[in-house]
Amino acid sequence: GKDGYRHYMEKELHEHPVVIGQTLQRLIDPATRRVVLPDLPFDLASVPRAVVTACGSAFYAGMIGRYWLESVAHLPVDIDVASEMRYRDPPLTPGGMGLLISQSGETADTLAALRGMRAQRQHILSVLNVEQSTMARESDVVLGTAAGPEISVASTKAFTAQLSVLACLAIAAGRQRGVLSSDQEQALVASLLDLPSRAGEVFDQSDAIREMAAVIAGARDVLYLGRGSSFPVALEGALKLKEVSYIHAEAYAAGEMKHGPISLIDQTVPIVATVPSGRLFEKTLSNLQEARARGGRLMVFTDTQGAERLRGLAEIVVAIPTVDEFTAPVLQTIPVQMLAYEVALLKGTDVDQPRNLAKSVTVE
Ligand code: F6R
Repeated sequence: GKDGYRHYMEKELHEHPVVIGQTLQRLIDPATRRVVLPDLPFDLASVPRAVVTACGSAFYAGMIGRYWLESVAHLPVDIDVASEMRYRDPPLTPGGMGLLISQSGETADTLAALRGMRAQRQHILSVLNVEQSTMARESDVVLGTAAGPEISVASTKAFTAQLSVLACLAIAAGRQRGVLSSDQEQALVASLLDLPSRAGEVFDQSDAIREMAAVIAGARDVLYLGRGSSFPVALEGALKLKEVSYIHAEAYAAGEMKHGPISLIDQTVPIVATVPSGRLFEKTLSNLQEARARGGRLMVFTDTQGAERLRGLAEIVVAIPTVDEFTAPVLQTIPVQMLAYEVALLKGTDVDQPRNLAKSVTVE
């Protein structure tokens, strides 16, 4: 049941902290605080390349995974949505890693992409929530997300569970490829293990998120922005808003704004930006200043450290706990999903069963 929550989506949003913790528990040895993956039938140290594919939210998780595999493990990554990947026929070097991500393990396009990669002699590693699924049976190795059953059609907790697995995979690959020192590994693991409690604190911001929702619910179009690993968070926010509130939303990499979408900006198109403190903070800040100068209404997700700089600029600031840049996208996903839920409530849509959507897309 819904355990007293109004919708499964609300219940599942509140499960983020537990689900992240349970997923990490499977992959991190508490005694040594090191990542321990199940035995892989291939060597992460010598894979030439990872090819990542998935659909929808799982694809956005994969995009964050790409940032991590590139930066933490120096592993070259190609990525595409499965519906494109399956027909693209990219030439793949045998012995590469095909990395598939799916909550259901049944998504037709992702499964077809898996089979295409296998035909090109890739090692198939799947990140799956349903471990008794077609994709599980056809993979060389499955890394499970411990999200439990996800009932809401719009995915929430499965996403942060996927990120938890991908972060651990990147750390293990970084160690095995000689990129990460054990001190660096310990620091990244510490920031992961800190996530469940920090995720719980995100819910302290519910009032500010509702305030934002009231603005968004009055809009016809919304622009989401983010840079680096916050760009997929923006994509996830825009997708979730479209799915459950039926409001048109688009996500752009913040640096792309001046190449086109800036012409959309006026008071009627609110801008939702994800701007955690870190290396890219100043860059995104200057994009937001440009948007503000053109009359854009800024709704900003940041952390306590970034909030000081953003308060004068943005109309509404949601500041969640400041964490390591590495784990920030995991935490920043939670409030953008909460925003979509709150807007859906105001619009009175069928939150758990949005029109035209199915939980598991088993046809092409
Ligand atoms: C978004 C959503 C969909 C799924 C996509 C992939 O909220 O639910 O975009 O993420 O259909 O589904 P799985 O992960 O089952 O392959």
